[in-house]
Amino acid sequence: MRADVKHPLAIDGKNPNNLRGDPIPRERYYSREFMAREWERLWTKVWHIGGRVNQLVEPGDFIVDDFMHESVIITKQKDGSLKGYYNACGHRAQRLAWDKGSVDHFTCSYHGWTWGLDGGLKDCPDRDDFPQGDPVGKLKLIDVRVDTWAGLIWYSMDKEAPELIDYLAPLPEVYKNHQFEKTVRVQWIRVALDCNWKFWSDNFAESYHTRTAHPQVPPIIDQDHFTSRYEMFPMGHARIIQMGRPSLRDRVPEGEPHPFDQVLQRWGINPKKYPDYESKVMQGWLDLKKAKKSLWKEKGYLHYENLTDEELTESPFAEIFPNIAFGASADSFSVFRWLPHPDDPEKCFFDMWSMAYPVEGESEFVNRTALNPIAIEEAEFDFREYNNGEGVQDLSDQVVYQDWQLNAGQKSGWRSRGYQEPYLAAQETRVRRFHDILNDYLTGNPPNQH
Ligand code: FES
Ligand SMILES: [Fe+2]
Repeated sequence: MRADVKHPLAIDGKNPNNLRGDPIPRERYYSREFMAREWERLWTKVWHIGGRVNQLVEPGDFIVDDFMHESVIITKQKDGSLKGYYNACGHRAQRLAWDKGSVDHFTCSYHGWTWGLDGGLKDCPDRDDFPQGDPVGKLKLIDVRVDTWAGLIWYSMDKEAPELIDYLAPLPEVYKNHQFEKTVRVQWIRVALDCNWKFWSDNFAESYHTRTAHPQVPPIIDQDHFTSRYEMFPMGHARIIQMGRPSLRDRVPEGEPHPFDQVLQRWGINPKKYPDYESKVMQGWLDLKKAKKSLWKEKGYLHYENLTDEELTESPFAEIFPNIAFGASADSFSVFRWLPHPDDPEKCFFDMWSMAYPVEGESEFVNRTALNPIAIEEAEFDFREYNNGEGVQDLSDQVVYQDWQLNAGQKSGWRSRGYQEPYLAAQETRVRRFHDILNDYLTGNPPNQH
């Protein structure tokens, strides 16, 4: 049984005939020249996530987002709107802010120029000493575009880029039933990794690796490609929708506790009532939908209010081109983003933001694929060096930990003359699609921008 709710813009993400099908030469995973081209033609053109909307509450609250060699400041204005500009003083370039905070204005640490929240120059020493004219009231910090969606702050350095809602299309429509802005970021972790950033774009574009790399997942989320739905969208984004039930192909040995039992019990369903494994999986999954639909309100799961049958139980995982993974299930919301290192094409940063919905009476969030519950409270930023796994040992119950472990081997393989070109399964079609779209950007033809 397979869900068939499909957006009209979605094309079959499992059919390689839907691609141009460019080769994927390995040099792009380590070449400095390729990295420079990505900066010029990709990173300066797309929309980036800068933070969460709830980080900017009062006028003067600001966040800083560093991306490769660039840095931007995004501030809350007096009228409640958001404004962004490059983090460089208009006098002689000094960086204005290093970290998030709250100010009335930005005072440059070099010569003391004072910039207002709106980016205009408000004051400077010796205003009458400028032969070319008083800079106050004349100079402004250079803007970046800022917009919001899904409780997230987005920015783009490109004046010509489509509006955010068009850039993301049709995801804002696809996810309209979710209440992302109500979530609490319970994990806010950045890990420094030794691998090109595109490892992550490739990795999140397929679930073919899950059985091997993440054996804990199939007993919870069905990993079978023939029960999943694969979607690709014109702007380069893509999704997989997997059924929120165990795969029939992956059985926990008889007598061992099955993790799906806990999921059923949480919704008042007795897993013992099913005569065999097949009916527990298939009927239990339907019973789970029914229970969620009838009990959400009394259990305080107010964020279920508008969710459809599919959204109540399934696991849709989207990749927002080029560097964001977006997991929006009924019970959690995760955003991963991966950023290139400014100087080294074989390093990157991986951001893990896990969001939970506050539910009255519940103080801990249990991710269905992780072991350890996490307190439902806003987390502080936590930076880690991967360091052969030593820097992230406490996160070893996380699915992405197993992906981090693959980085070193992938980096090494891409350097080998023994590797030329991937040999892809149909369920990995989105991997090649990612590179087709990347090539479109690098040749100056990003989707839908003419
Ligand atoms: S560089 Fe900022 S005041 Fe001189
Ligand atoms: Fe993975």
